[in-house]
Amino acid sequence: MRLLSDLGKRMFFPKGIVAQSAEARERGVRFDATVGMAYEKGEPMTLPMIRDLTHPLSTREAVPYSPTAGVPELRTTWRDLLAQKNPLLRGVATTLPVVVPGLTAGISLVADLFVDPGDVVLIPDLFWGNYRIIFEERRQCRLREFPFFNQDYRFNRKAFADGARAAAGSGKLVVLLNFPNNPAGFTPSREDVAFIRQTLLNLAESVPVLLVADDAYFGLVYDEEAYPDSIFGEFAQAHPNLLAIKIDGSSKEDFAWGFRVGFMTCAFQGITPDQAEALEKKIAGLVRGTVSSSSTPAQSVLIRLLKTETYQAQKAVARDILQARYETLHTILQAQEAQQRAPMLKPLPCNSGYFMSFYCTPHNAEELRLALLDAGVGVISVGKSYLRVAFAGIDREDLPELYETIFSVAEALGTPPCPQTHPVQESIEA
Ligand SMILES: Cc1ncc(COP(=O)(O)O)c(C=O)c1O
Repeated sequence: MRLLSDLGKRMFFPKGIVAQSAEARERGVRFDATVGMAYEKGEPMTLPMIRDLTHPLSTREAVPYSPTAGVPELRTTWRDLLAQKNPLLRGVATTLPVVVPGLTAGISLVADLFVDPGDVVLIPDLFWGNYRIIFEERRQCRLREFPFFNQDYRFNRKAFADGARAAAGSGKLVVLLNFPNNPAGFTPSREDVAFIRQTLLNLAESVPVLLVADDAYFGLVYDEEAYPDSIFGEFAQAHPNLLAIKIDGSSKEDFAWGFRVGFMTCAFQGITPDQAEALEKKIAGLVRGTVSSSSTPAQSVLIRLLKTETYQAQKAVARDILQARYETLHTILQAQEAQQRAPMLKPLPCNSGYFMSFYCTPHNAEELRLALLDAGVGVISVGKSYLRVAFAGIDREDLPELYETIFSVAEALGTPPCPQTHPVQESIEA
């Protein structure tokens, strides 16, 4: 209760149409005249072309509304997969994942439920820019940024701990971590994650702590030094005063970005079934009051996908393609360093995800982006000094040409080389 926002405290799942309709179904009524859908001979009505285009899904898999919290079979399948993918979650009590229309919706619902205007949310200074819209504009809270990398281009443990202690001064601590990170494509090491865990556990002794894991790029870790699983596993039963929420979904994990299927899963040490249900109902209440429910055909396709025997094999093929691109990228970056190409572009550490970023000096990322556009290359300028390249979007054989263009355009701009140590004070976003 101490973590919930005012809205979160008030939120509940109403005993309205959805609940009354479910009750009628459970009772097996002779005439179900509850819900606002058209039926014919017991089957949902639809148009012939919709039936053709959604084949081989049945009409029931394609067109009806889904339950507010998601199709139950998808929720239980995702829960089982979470434990399969994260050994630390095996046998651990969590809420049943609630289906939301994409990870963005999940993060936005977390913001609705847990932050009030004026609250502080701790994030690394390299972050996905949409957090600003969600937390600062929609919820009017303050993003407190800690420098993600230290001067040696490693995870900045000290800055994280200082930031967490300072943010906790407000009486509650909300931390949002996104590994693999957008825009750097970086995941900290096991030791770094142990440090993060211990820091938050210490603070949970005195203030309620919310740890939000934005796991958009879960599973795409290419280097053994990077923490391989979700940090949610580290926190799910770490402390009774620390609520962990995992936001994940099929967008990136299953290469189904536009399906708009994400999941929200919550846990804390000692969570009871009643408490889990209360959290699920608060989330479902918010879903009901915003988007009502998530896409049914997308959920139906995912149920079939996740249950197919070749699911893991299909994913491994896609993942290996990205791993190969990452390896090519590293060869290119090693050659860049050895040949002292484009010294005004310093690659940030990258071991995972879809992206890599360059630190570029002095503050000319936008100028460089525009020059690259002229040369036929689209990349993202992040703040004044970072350039984000989505290497996941480029075929392996095209990566050398892409980076050759980036290096030669940067060299032609004639900016001075980057300093050897990383300047750690700037505020940035992707
Ligand atoms: C870090 C991060 N979180 C969340 C999302 C949003 O995911 P979705 O498309 O499922 O809303 C993205 C998408 O780019 C992202 O980079």
